[in-house]
Amino acid sequence: MDYFQAASTAPPGWHRYSLDDVARLPTQYLAAIPAGEREAAAHGNAEAAQRLRRALFWPMVYELEPELWDAVGQAEPIHPGVLAKLEIDGRRVLEVAAGSGRLTVYLCPRAAELVCVEPSSGLRRILVSRCPSADIRAGFFIALPIVDGWAELTVSCASIQPDPGVVLELERATARGGVLALISPESPDWFEARGWERLSFDPTDVAINPHDPELEAIFGPLDPPHELLWRHR
Ligand SMILES: C[S@@+](CC[C@H](N)C(=O)[O-])C[C@H]1O[C@@H](n2cnc3c(N)ncnc32)[C@H](O)[C@@H]1O
Repeated sequence: MDYFQAASTAPPGWHRYSLDDVARLPTQYLAAIPAGEREAAAHGNAEAAQRLRRALFWPMVYELEPELWDAVGQAEPIHPGVLAKLEIDGRRVLEVAAGSGRLTVYLCPRAAELVCVEPSSGLRRILVSRCPSADIRAGFFIALPIVDGWAELTVSCASIQPDPGVVLELERATARGGVLALISPESPDWFEARGWERLSFDPTDVAINPHDPELEAIFGPLDPPHELLWRHR
């Protein structure tokens, strides 16, 4: 999703963040901002200012309010049918964009070895408390901190976008014959059109956990991850 798509699809809660909050983000998130946009916003262009606050909504949640993301993740569990498809036991597992551990808690007791990559320090703190035995590393999709071919299963939930560079990096990290498994990635059609197998489960099977109704006011309707896009390396 490019900057303008991200701006046009921001959830209703984008109002909670200011231009000062945008400036607090790590520089990696600012690379996608078109040239001149921040200057225009700083000089009073209201449309540019609103686009910035909208387009960077999700990174601001992860980086500035990790507990808020954690509340969403805990409210909408992953569909059990998706989890049951993952072959984890005895495998070296790489989890990319692990967040606060919604999937990790399932991987941790089963994997032979588990490396989790997550850029947000606040989310990593929650992840450590939930999965103390996992090897948790700071990093971004585009340059995963892992040696070539390490993972027998590379998995990511609700995080991967349709980006050929990111797919190449996931492949680099995965052993030949290993499995790449994306749970509810953005634009699943894009992956399916490139030969990934797609399994869809009924999201209404998932029991949403009790939560503060304010979460829906901020994020819109909850949508538990319920699809699996996967293939062999
Ligand atoms: C919707 S959350 C999902 C978190 C977790 N996988 C789960 O299902 O609960 C998206 C995650 O992607 C991470 N993320 C965002 N941009 C990233 C990037 N460029 N590289 C790696 N992770 C990223 C966020 O920090 C966040 O943890």
